[in-house]
Order: sequence, then structure tokens, then C-alpha cells
Amino acid sequence: MKVINIGICGLGTVGYGSFSVLRNNSKEIARRVGAEVRVSHIGARRLRPGQDIGNVRKSSDVFAVVNDPDVHIVLELMGGTDAAKALVLQAIANGKHVVTANKALIAQHGSEIFAAAATRNVLVAYEASVAGGIPIIKAIREGLAGNRIQWLAGIINGTGNFILTEMREKGRAFAEVLKEAQELGYAEADPTFDIEGIDAAHKLTILAAIAFGIPLQFSKTYTEGISRLTQEDIRYADELGYRIKHLGISRKTPAGIELRVHPTLLAADSIIANVNGVMNAVMVNGDAVGSTLYYGAGAGAGPTASAVVADIIDVARMISHPESGVPSLAFRDDALSDAPILPMSDVVSAYYLRISAADRPGVLADITEILGDRGISIQAIIQKEPRGGDAEHRRVPVIILTREIREAVMDEAIARIEALDAVSERVMRIRVFKLDQ
Ligand code: HSE
Repeated sequence: MKVINIGICGLGTVGYGSFSVLRNNSKEIARRVGAEVRVSHIGARRLRPGQDIGNVRKSSDVFAVVNDPDVHIVLELMGGTDAAKALVLQAIANGKHVVTANKALIAQHGSEIFAAAATRNVLVAYEASVAGGIPIIKAIREGLAGNRIQWLAGIINGTGNFILTEMREKGRAFAEVLKEAQELGYAEADPTFDIEGIDAAHKLTILAAIAFGIPLQFSKTYTEGISRLTQEDIRYADELGYRIKHLGISRKTPAGIELRVHPTLLAADSIIANVNGVMNAVMVNGDAVGSTLYYGAGAGAGPTASAVVADIIDVARMISHPESGVPSLAFRDDALSDAPILPMSDVVSAYYLRISAADRPGVLADITEILGDRGISIQAIIQKEPRGGDAEHRRVPVIILTREIREAVMDEAIARIEALDAVSERVMRIRVFKLDQ
């Protein structure tokens, strides 16, 4: 199998996160790409405590990675602009493809970098530069390509949203929450980028460019931060039925394109107003599709690495199979798995049961015995007071919420319950699905 070598420049939160995803998911990635994708060289001054790179070659000079003839794809994950720009241009000059998470670099120097890449016929991919793990670049550039985009608006800085959420929900102080965001690896090296809206402005610049087909124009983006917001503003907004969110907004108007980042009042029942913590969300409105919404973690090692690795896979597919591109079913045909599809009887779920039972002694005990005998644990039970009718024909609804059990066992229990004299109707069964499992 062909091998594609990755060189990582910068081993901070995102760098080590990307290294870990490439290592942990290497088999799955090879099935998608049709080649082995492996990290062959890392450029970092030093390893942080807990970082384990096995026997991968390490250089303290990141340019050693860029100049390594064996490296096919360079990951620029150092942040900052000057050194990062020099590194990326060198990688391009050396004929290497580049994947970066650096929004400041793309927003400020993207045009020059893309022009250089075009002359060398290499790719520069930057999905991770906006909204962490949300594939928003791909969605706008490819998924919505048939639309005239009218506007987009979003929470595109996780640190700022984390701060506003903690201030509103827990009454915590601004500075204390910012410190926590730094410890969690969400904040930029210079956290004023997060709280003064500069980071969001970098991201908005990129989104507007690909949405409206305009050059990258960071310097024209209106930018206002959240550092002047107080608990009082948050409480008054609440009283008025609003939430304060730090939004990036870009809208096409007959007079021109709006590019603005500022604290914004949003109706409390709108979807974006309820996006909390480090989560990001971007709404994009196109003339054909209407409004669409993209939601996910906007910062942190795993989510950002998810986007970095997706870009690596895109580039690696192009290197390994330029003639066939993205496989129709995402994985190479010869790498499809024969994992069995579970029959419904083997699915494990919790259940809501509504049983219409005769109003007589012992019925509830019969039902719970049937469940208990089969190891079906009851999580909650409601029996409503019977209403109307004569005592003999009166029915009482019994509602039971069970814990998880295999469907075949529940089928059998339901059949036994329906066979009871006291139960005359079919049992209503609704499966419970926990979204966080
Ligand atoms: N500092 C950024 C944020 C990291 O908080 O959203 C992801 O770009």
C-alpha cells in the first residue's frame, strides 16, 4: 500500500490532537484514502508533558520538516502569522501540499498563499481555520455551491461563547472564566484575539470570501469585543426576552457586503441564542435552500483535529488516486467492511410503555412481575387516576419508562402483558434514544 507522509509543524493543543487522531484512526483513514497516512516528521521545540510521539522523527526547527524530501503534506499548526507565512510559502516552494488551522494567516495572507500554491500546483486546505470541528468551509464551498448566498451569521469564537454562557448561567466573573478557557486550550495565545473579536473577524473574513466570491478583506471587518459587557447587560437582555451572543455577520445588500463582529441581542427562543459553552453555530442562508444551520464544538484539540485530518484525507486522496477522487461510498470499494447490520431484535434501547389496564387490584403487580422476571428494570412509573365509566369497565393508563434492554426481551414482555386478562388494548411502545451516548 502506498504511504503518504505527514510533517507536523507545531505540537501544541491542535498539533498533538491531530497527531493523536491520525494515530488512533489510522486503519479507518487508510480505508478511506486507499493509502497509509502516517506522521513521519514533527517540528516542535519541545514535547509537552504527557506527549508521546513514539519513534517519529522530531526536529526542533520546523523548517527541517518543510525541507524534508520525504514529507508529502505539511501541517502548519504553529499559529501566528509571520513565521507561519514564511513556513507555508517555503513548503509550497518545495512542492508540498499544506493543511493549516491558522485563520489569522488565511484571513491576512491567504491571497498571496493561494497564488503561490497555484503556481506550484499544490493545495492549501484550511477547514480547521473556522468553527473548529464544524465542516463549514466544505458546506459553503461545496454543499451550497448551487446557491446565491444571501447572508451568514454565527457564533464563531468558542472562548467568547464559553465566557458569555458561564457569566449568564453561573454569574461568574469575566476574568475567571477566561482563565479557565485558557487552561482548557480554547483561547488563542493572545486571548485579546478572542474577547475583542479579532479571532471571529479572521474567521468571518474567510467565510464571507467563500460565500460571496470576494477577496479576503480582514482590514475592512468591523470588530467589537465582549470585554465591556457586564452582568447587568446580560440580566437586562434576559428581562427583555433576549440573549447576548458575540456574532459574526456577513450580509449581501444592494449597496455592498456587511462584514461585522459585535455583541448582538438575539431572541431568547432562537436556535443560535441557545448555543452555549464552547459550541459554535453558523447559519447560512442561500436563495435556493433557505436557512441552514451548522453546529458543533468550535475549539479544543479533538474538534479542531477532526477538521485538520479531514483536510489531510482530501489531499491524500488526491495524491493516492488522482483519477478517481472521493469514493462514492466514502471508503475505497476494496475496503468496505462486512460488519453485520443488527436485526431489530438485537437492538438495545430504553422504552416508554403505555398500558391500558382494568381498574382492579393486582394488575400493576402482574405487569411489574412480567418485566422483573425478564430483567427489565423500571426507571419511572405513572398510574393515572381512573376517570368516568363504571368500576368494572374502567381503564387506567399505566405509563412505564424502562431502562435499557434488548428488543427481543421487550417484545416477549409486551406479548405477555397484552395476554393478561386485565389488558385489552395493544401496548403502546416508544423507544428512547439518548443523544449523548
Ligand atoms: N480561540 C479560538 C476559539 C480557537 O475560542 O474559538 C478556535 O479557533
